[in-house]
Amino acid sequence: MIIRKSQAEIEGMARAGEIVVDTLAIIGDELRPGISMIDLDRLAEEYIRERGGVPTSKGYRGYPATLCISPNAMIVHGIPTEYRAKEGDVISVDIGVTLDGLVADSAYTFGVGEISADAERLLDVCQEALAAGIEQARVGRHVSDIGHAVQTVVEGAGFSVVRSLVGHGVGRAYHEDPQIPNFGAPARGPELLPGMTLAIEPMINAGGPDVVMHADEWSISSADGSLSAHFEHTVAVTEDGPRVLTAAKRPVQAGLLP
Ligand code: MF3
Ligand code: CO
Repeated sequence: MIIRKSQAEIEGMARAGEIVVDTLAIIGDELRPGISMIDLDRLAEEYIRERGGVPTSKGYRGYPATLCISPNAMIVHGIPTEYRAKEGDVISVDIGVTLDGLVADSAYTFGVGEISADAERLLDVCQEALAAGIEQARVGRHVSDIGHAVQTVVEGAGFSVVRSLVGHGVGRAYHEDPQIPNFGAPARGPELLPGMTLAIEPMINAGGPDVVMHADEWSISSADGSLSAHFEHTVAVTEDGPRVLTAAKRPVQAGLLP
């Protein structure tokens, strides 16, 4: 069952989303060569709690941290480790914040310092795919229109869509119906209606789409070791079109600032 949220709930999710955005901005500032993943996680947790929020991931199905931090070939659900960022890394950071019982979920893949032209293109394409997916989050479209749009962008650029991981409804809980695959035929699945709130999250690989799970039973990487990217926004379907509840007021990554 897809839960449609009231206007008040959507505003509450947007307030959770502001904490998400501001936390990602801090991470973007701090994510320089030498910082450890554990340090980033600690900074994020402290900041979220200072703002009155709760890190949604921590304790979710036993997950031990605030952030999922997934470097390079890792796609999602990386448990923060002592690993230190180095020049040229691409590091995906996924964060959920609960505020007054309502959840916002977002992810951003950061480049550390100078990254390769190929890596740059992977990040650009993933963001473009997310934007194309969000564009479909309109009353009267169907869930599969989102994935179809994502897949078209990603495969058109010669990259692959991860099949075994999906976006999802979000809001009263971290993961709600519907599942939102990042591929498929258009015009399938439930029709989108006002008040639906969706976490749209393309996960894409530079190489093939297959994945491997690591021994920690959380972190998942591309099977062929190719670079992976992940961008995610929480989006409300409204009568006026898609409303992104986790949108940065300015570019998140330091260095992109004017
Ligand atoms: N934020 C992730 C998502 O986009 C969920 C992470 S679950 C966790 O769905 F437990 F690993 F945090
Ligand atoms: Co999500």
